[in-house]
Amino acid sequence: MSWIREGELNLLERISANILKAGPIPKHIAIIMDGNRRYARKRHVERQEGHSQGFEKLAETLRWCLQLDIHEVTVYAFSIENFKRSKEEVDGLMELAKQKFERLLEEQEKLEKHGVCIRVLGDLSLLPLNLQEVIAKAVVATKTHNKCFLNVCFAYTSRHEIAGAVREMAWGVEQGLIKPSDVSEALLSQCLYSSHSPNPDLLIRTSGEVRLSDFLLWQTSYSCLVFQPVLWPEYSFWNLCEAILQYQLNHRSIQKAREHHSESQAILQLEADRSCVAEMLQHQHQRHGNGMPMDAASRQEAVCRYTASREERVRHFLSALQHKRDSFFSDLCSPAVVA
Ligand code: IPE
Ligand code: IPE
Ligand code: MG
Repeated sequence: MSWIREGELNLLERISANILKAGPIPKHIAIIMDGNRRYARKRHVERQEGHSQGFEKLAETLRWCLQLDIHEVTVYAFSIENFKRSKEEVDGLMELAKQKFERLLEEQEKLEKHGVCIRVLGDLSLLPLNLQEVIAKAVVATKTHNKCFLNVCFAYTSRHEIAGAVREMAWGVEQGLIKPSDVSEALLSQCLYSSHSPNPDLLIRTSGEVRLSDFLLWQTSYSCLVFQPVLWPEYSFWNLCEAILQYQLNHRSIQKAREHHSESQAILQLEADRSCVAEMLQHQHQRHGNGMPMDAASRQEAVCRYTASREERVRHFLSALQHKRDSFFSDLCSPAVVA
């Protein structure tokens, strides 16, 4: 079955979608698609059939999202913890993912027509090589599309992602690209797999479980969290509308909390830059003896110069990091060159 569904909403769904669209619509939603195995048990079908229907539901949900003007969706498809399931189940899930990404590659025209960019977030090195290769091809083939974004978290956990981001910053310091004092919340966010996306506005978990299971812990501090009892393969257009309605009811307080957070981040960064400048001046003073103390205007100018140089260092470091990540995918697309 295809990733891109082109069907229309029925009349009642269309009217409801238009009513919802009169209010604030989340730009980016994240979904923990949970409950496939319970669904299989309930319907007396094979476990793998539950997972397969879970994928069908994803394709259907993406169509609803587009019709509701939601242009970015991040889904939890397979966690690093899920490797601990039986070999049979893990192999089945790897095979399903391989088939679906192969199918995606056959749908390139449709993906281009709709401008769909697919990103896969996770530690892909944990996956079988043939799956890594097909994922890399899908990512590279759609990377310039920019109308809607689907981020598939696969071999993903948030703690692993955060630890990886910290390692990347340590690498930057080691390479002399950044200074230890350049490490900040904002820089860490930019080292995560999700650096190209705004934080999700709404996070949905199905199946009645009320935990995050290590999904987007960093990115969802100011997201609206909605837990729904429905099993993922049974998710409906109305369940999605209900989650969006929850978001709309909480929109104002979420917005306020976000603004408050970004204002305090800006203040913290300015204070950090000021204290770096103060430290540098102190060193100069110690080395060159007593000079004239700096007046407020010159100090302000020194802070501006320092901010500009820090921003330049960070830009350079992030582009080196991006290059490293792009090469991982492009090397997988041409294994003959690597060998
Ligand atoms: C989510 O459904 C899909 C994956 C984790 C791959 P589950 O497989 O966790 O199904 P339940 O939650 O056990 O019913
Ligand atoms: C989270 O669901 C992972 C995915 C949906 C892919 P799990 O079913 O694996 O999470 P736990 O074990 O219930 O916390
Ligand atoms: Mg589960």
